[in-house]
Amino acid sequence: MIKKVAILANGGDAPGFNAVIRGIVKTAETNGIECYGFIDGYRGLLKNDFIKLDSATTASGILHKGGSIIGSSTNANVFNYKLEENGQVVYKDLSDICVENIKNDEFDCIFTLGGDGTQKSARDFSLKGVNVIGIPKTIDNDVACTEITFGFNTAVSVAMEAIDRLHTTGETHHRIMVLEVMGRYAGWIALEAAIAGGADIALIPEIPYDINIAAKKIEERKEKGKNFSVVVVAEGAMPKGGTITVENIRDNGAGVDNTKLGGVGDKVAKELQELTGLDARNTTLGYMQRGGTPVAFDRVLSTKYGAKAMELAIEGKFGVLTVIKDGKLNSVPLEDVVGNNKVMGAVSGNTAESNIRKVTRDHDLFKTAKSIGICLGE
Ligand code: F6P
Repeated sequence: MIKKVAILANGGDAPGFNAVIRGIVKTAETNGIECYGFIDGYRGLLKNDFIKLDSATTASGILHKGGSIIGSSTNANVFNYKLEENGQVVYKDLSDICVENIKNDEFDCIFTLGGDGTQKSARDFSLKGVNVIGIPKTIDNDVACTEITFGFNTAVSVAMEAIDRLHTTGETHHRIMVLEVMGRYAGWIALEAAIAGGADIALIPEIPYDINIAAKKIEERKEKGKNFSVVVVAEGAMPKGGTITVENIRDNGAGVDNTKLGGVGDKVAKELQELTGLDARNTTLGYMQRGGTPVAFDRVLSTKYGAKAMELAIEGKFGVLTVIKDGKLNSVPLEDVVGNNKVMGAVSGNTAESNIRKVTRDHDLFKTAKSIGICLGE
């Protein structure tokens, strides 16, 4: 019988964080279970900083709200935590402090809302005997073993609206309008937004692009009297034989993603302008994709994920991630999600060892894009 549970939200925020929290809290209350929330993700777990969550006060009126009422942390790998000691940067495994906190506070289950890095730590905590249930969050849609993460649909809607707006100004001024979208090392946002917004070209990390092929597509459109084009570029897109464009390398500690992607949109716009002679402009959509209210799809998905996670806890099914499989709510072992990233406390996400889900050629989105003639730069 579980009596007391806690939620933590970790990693970059995604629309739906609060809707998941609400789903967990409400299902907990239906079953007479007390609910708490750690402040700022794993950092709150480390500092034992938490608040009581209930649908009458702290977790009231949050379904539609962007962000996270309990914060989130993008740089807190407690298995390899960056500290300063005597003016020196050192990395320490502080996970045992977290385990102690959970024991002392008598939490029967911890819900971890996050992407691949967060779930990697969740898996590691589960190996240390903690009852953990993960919920797949990220606008990037790149968590393994699930067909969709919460936040993705909202990000695509924001990107689609941006494409619609770029379309009209591009058409008016006979320009190439480039939109750089997020997604890290996966092209889900770019590809789905390109289809939703009717873009002509989509460049995604999974398919290194040939800029000449993209330019050819624009020339062909010009020949048909269309002297404007819309190009969606994923931040992780790279030219054939080239490398990813990095805005900067941060120092947020070991075991977290220190690479800030960005800049490929500008690069692509410049090159396409040179190759086609048409004026080109880049817009980098950035954090607009993450902030603000979730669309209906994400509110429902997040609520489903939250309720399911609480049900799994009641059933005593721990060490799993809630997922959508074949369109239905399900769960899979965290071990499957983390994949070949076996070493406890090792680098959490975004490495060769991490198990992120990428666009594949046999995916419906890829095939649809090809069928309707969206140029993928190949
Ligand atoms: O993972 C979500 C995401 O928004 C990525 O699409 C993007 O590359 C990254 O986070 C930006 O992260 P940060 O918040 O660290 O700038």
